[in-house]
Amino acid sequence: MDALRIEGGTRLVGDIRISGSKNASLPILAAALLADDKSILENVPDLADIRTMASLLQTLGARCERNLQNALTIDASTVNRHEAPYDLVRTMRASILVLGPLLARFGMARVSLPGGCAIGARPIDQHLKGLEKMGAEIQLRHGYVEAKCNRLRGAEIAFDVPTVGGTEQLMLAASLAEGVTVLSNAALEPEIVDLARALIAMGVEISGAGTQRIQIHGQNRLRGYQHKVAADRIEAGTFVVAGALLGEPLTVRGVDPTENTALLNKLTECGVEIRTGSDFVTVRRCARPKPVRVRTAPYPGFPTDTQAQLMALLALSQGTSVIVESIFENRFMHVAELCRLGAQIALDRNEAVITGVPQLSGTTVMATDLRASACLVLAGLVAQGETVIRRIYHLDRGYEYIAEKLQSVGAKISRFRE
Ligand code: EPU
Repeated sequence: MDALRIEGGTRLVGDIRISGSKNASLPILAAALLADDKSILENVPDLADIRTMASLLQTLGARCERNLQNALTIDASTVNRHEAPYDLVRTMRASILVLGPLLARFGMARVSLPGGCAIGARPIDQHLKGLEKMGAEIQLRHGYVEAKCNRLRGAEIAFDVPTVGGTEQLMLAASLAEGVTVLSNAALEPEIVDLARALIAMGVEISGAGTQRIQIHGQNRLRGYQHKVAADRIEAGTFVVAGALLGEPLTVRGVDPTENTALLNKLTECGVEIRTGSDFVTVRRCARPKPVRVRTAPYPGFPTDTQAQLMALLALSQGTSVIVESIFENRFMHVAELCRLGAQIALDRNEAVITGVPQLSGTTVMATDLRASACLVLAGLVAQGETVIRRIYHLDRGYEYIAEKLQSVGAKISRFRE
């Protein structure tokens, strides 16, 4: 298994360019299934999760090819199977997003239930309730969602909780449904807006993406898309925190800073010096940040996906900070490992109380999920001495060339096989 070795304390200077968004790419890849045609997705990061989605599309009969410019071509005209097997869904929950497109185009789908996950139970009830409202008959049998319909019909669907995956699932399904679907209490995340752009390129009429009320006029037939995925705001946020720890200064390029407003505001409150332009964020290190209170929330609130990274910074704050995790019930797996690096953090259910220390010290730690791994990389970069991070396959799911990108701005970080 691969691991990372980091020699901490080196200042980071220069520019890091952000890759395409993993979480925007995944639903847009699933959208390719809606057309009996070829789609081209540009700026797709080369990551384990993207390869898993491509394997799933191939398992369904589609042809997928990556070219050297980071574009994926998906020919969904050859799709002839309608089942997403357990092994692929278990590896990556977003595989569930093929359910809506398969059902809408072929009238049938069998998709494994994803089961639990390291960060929480993560039910899919909102996906299934919405599809049923659109006329699907759904049964849960032998660990699979078995769904069928004649043709999906547009419906008015109000989500009980704003869910990113649920909103994407129903936008995908509604694109080939008969009539108009109105989603209310929809998720507002930028990935929803990117998905809407791709669907519009396929011929769907959509309004309101990025607001709580999205209207989708379903079509009888869709063409393939050519679409460029937006930059990964979570990767950007992760490097911005790296800049707050060690930037001298560090510039994160190719991003829309307004997508990270909640994080940038919190960092400013911590005393971090930040400059933004239309597509960059420049950050200088802040040796002992001021303590803050943070509560994760759906977009545009503070993202659960950058909570762990911010904690690496708050571990060094001058005082006591509090992070409340309100999206996932088990998203503090990095806490125990951060404490092994010398952080002082007390956990009480979904609340972490972080008492800042002047210095972290390197040791061997274990990555447990994607963003927890990013937090450990950040902590290792600032800790005194050597940190070894094991099980970095979690990191490879979501960060393209992370070691190389950090090396290019001066970090002493290398990958090795244990
Ligand atoms: N929820 C339900 N029922 C549902 C769906 C969701 O109760 O049917 C609950 C969840 O349990 C959770 C909340 O609603 O408490 C929000 O979950 P959501 O559906 O929004 O999350 P997701 O679509 O499963 C995506 C990202 C996550 C990110 C969350 C929140 C992808 C592939 N995943 O997950 O990203 O944390 O939105 O923003 O887009 C990551 O990249 O590391 C990651 C976990």
